Amino acid sequence: LFSQSFAYGVHGSHAHLFSEEVSNISFPKNFMWGYATAAYQLEGAWNEDGKGESVWDYDAHNHPDWWPAGQNLIGDVGVDAYHHTDEDVALLAKQGVNTYRFSIAWPRILPTGHIDNINQKGIDYYKDLIQKLKARNIEPLVTMHHWDNPRAIEDEGGFLNESIIPAFVDYATLLFDNFGDDVKWWVTFNEPKQTCGGGYDVGGISPQNIHRGTGGYICAHNLLRAHAKVYRLYESKYKATQKGRVSMVMDESWSEPASNSSADIEAAERINLMTYGWYAHPIVFGDYPDIMKERVAERSSKQGFSTSRLPAFTDEEKAEIKGTYDFLTINMYSSQLAAAQDEAPYTDISLASDISVTVYQPDDWEKTVTDWFKVVPWGARHLVTWIRDTYGDEKGIIVTENGYHDSGNVFDDLDTRGRYHKLYLSNINDAIYKDGVNVTGYMAWSLWNDIEWYAGIVVNLGHYHVDFDSPNRTRTPKASAAYYQQVVTTGCLVD
Ligand code: NOJ
Repeated sequence: LFSQSFAYGVHGSHAHLFSEEVSNISFPKNFMWGYATAAYQLEGAWNEDGKGESVWDYDAHNHPDWWPAGQNLIGDVGVDAYHHTDEDVALLAKQGVNTYRFSIAWPRILPTGHIDNINQKGIDYYKDLIQKLKARNIEPLVTMHHWDNPRAIEDEGGFLNESIIPAFVDYATLLFDNFGDDVKWWVTFNEPKQTCGGGYDVGGISPQNIHRGTGGYICAHNLLRAHAKVYRLYESKYKATQKGRVSMVMDESWSEPASNSSADIEAAERINLMTYGWYAHPIVFGDYPDIMKERVAERSSKQGFSTSRLPAFTDEEKAEIKGTYDFLTINMYSSQLAAAQDEAPYTDISLASDISVTVYQPDDWEKTVTDWFKVVPWGARHLVTWIRDTYGDEKGIIVTENGYHDSGNVFDDLDTRGRYHKLYLSNINDAIYKDGVNVTGYMAWSLWNDIEWYAGIVVNLGHYHVDFDSPNRTRTPKASAAYYQQVVTTGCLVD
C-alpha cells in the first residue's frame, strides 16, 4: 500500500540483523492478547438490513479492474461474519484471546453517513456481537473507521471536505450512546496514513480521489481535527460514567538507517517522523513535526504555492488536539532501510519527494508473498523502542496489528506464519524486558483469511482457512491457530 510509494531507490545488500533465538520469558500477566479485523474484510451482507453503500462497495462494483480477475465481488459476502456471530465468537474464545479488535461500518449504522437516518438493525448487529464477546470475557476494542466511508459522505468530498468533521462527531456520539457502557477501548481511525495517502494522494485505497502532493495533507488535517473533537467529546461527556479509553490506530514500516553515517541516521529519523509522526506528533504534542512543517513549506514555496501544502493548525486546534490519546498504537508488518538522497526535484509535487529519503529492502531479506512485507522481526523491537523514545510509553503501546502474508487460501505451517509471530513476539518480549518498553498488548491480523484490499483472497493472513466455495464459508484452523492459542494461553513463546 502507501509504503510502496516510498519504494524507489537502490537495492543494496545489508548485514542480516536477524537472530532466530526466541525469548522464553513469559509476557506480563495482564497483557492484552487479541485478534484484529475490519468490517469490509469480513462482514459481507453489503446491502442487507438497511446497510448503505461504502466507498469499497462502490469501487468493487464499479472498478472491477482494480481487483484480481473475478474477485471484485468477493467482499459482498466476505467471510459472511454478519451471519456467523455465534460461531466466530466461539472461535475467539477457543483461541483464548482476551481482546477482539473489530471495526463498525459507518454506513451500516448511518446508511447515508448522516445522523438523520439511523439504521437500528445495524446497531442491533453490533450490540449482539458485543454482548456475546462480553459473555465470553473478551474485551471489544472498537475501530470507528476502517476505510469504509459511506459513499454519500464521499459524494460530499469525503476527507477533503471539512464537513466530514461534524458528520463523524455525530456518528461517534451515536456509538458512545449505544455501545459505550460495554466498550472500554475505542479507536477513531485505522491507519490514517493509508486512508489519506492511499485514498487521496498516491492511490491504492478507496476512494482513490487523487490529488498528488496535496490530497493526503488535506485529508489528514480534517481527519486529525475530527479525531480531536471525538476525543474531547468522550472526555467531557462520557468518560466519567463509561470510564473507557480513546486513541487512534497508526501504522509504520520501520525505517532503519542504512549505515552509521549521520546523513543516513538523519534520513531514517526524518521518514519515521514524516510518516508515523505525521499523526503521532499532533495527538501527542499538538502539531506536526517541525521537520515536516519546514520541509513542506519550503518545497511548496519553491513550487509556486502561496502557502504550504501542509495545512496549519490554529492555536485553538493545537490545544484541542494535544494529548488526545489514552494509549499508543502500532500496526506493524515489515521494515526497510533508509538512506540519504539528494533533494528530490521541485517539479515533483508528492509526499515522497517532500520526504526525499531513499528506502529499500535488501534482496536477501526473507520475502512474503506481498512485495514490501518482508519478514523483519528485529524491526518490531526497534520500532516500539523508537515510539517510546519519541512519544513516551506511560500510557502503554498496543501492537494493534501484526501478521504474515501468504497466498492461495492454503493451510500454513509453523515454519511460515507460526514462526513469523514467534520471532516478532520474541522481539517485542525483548523490548519489554531488555529495553523496558511498556508494550501492553498484541493483536494478530487476523482470525480468518479475509478479504485483503484490492487483493481479494489472493493474499491471506488468517489463522483460520476459509472455504470461499462453500455457502457456509467453512472455517478450519491452521497450524498458526494452534501456535497462537498456545502463546496466548501460556503467555510464553516456547513449550
Ligand atoms: C493493515 C490494515 O489495517 C488491514 O486492514 C490489512 O488487512 C492489513 N494491513 C494487512 O495487509
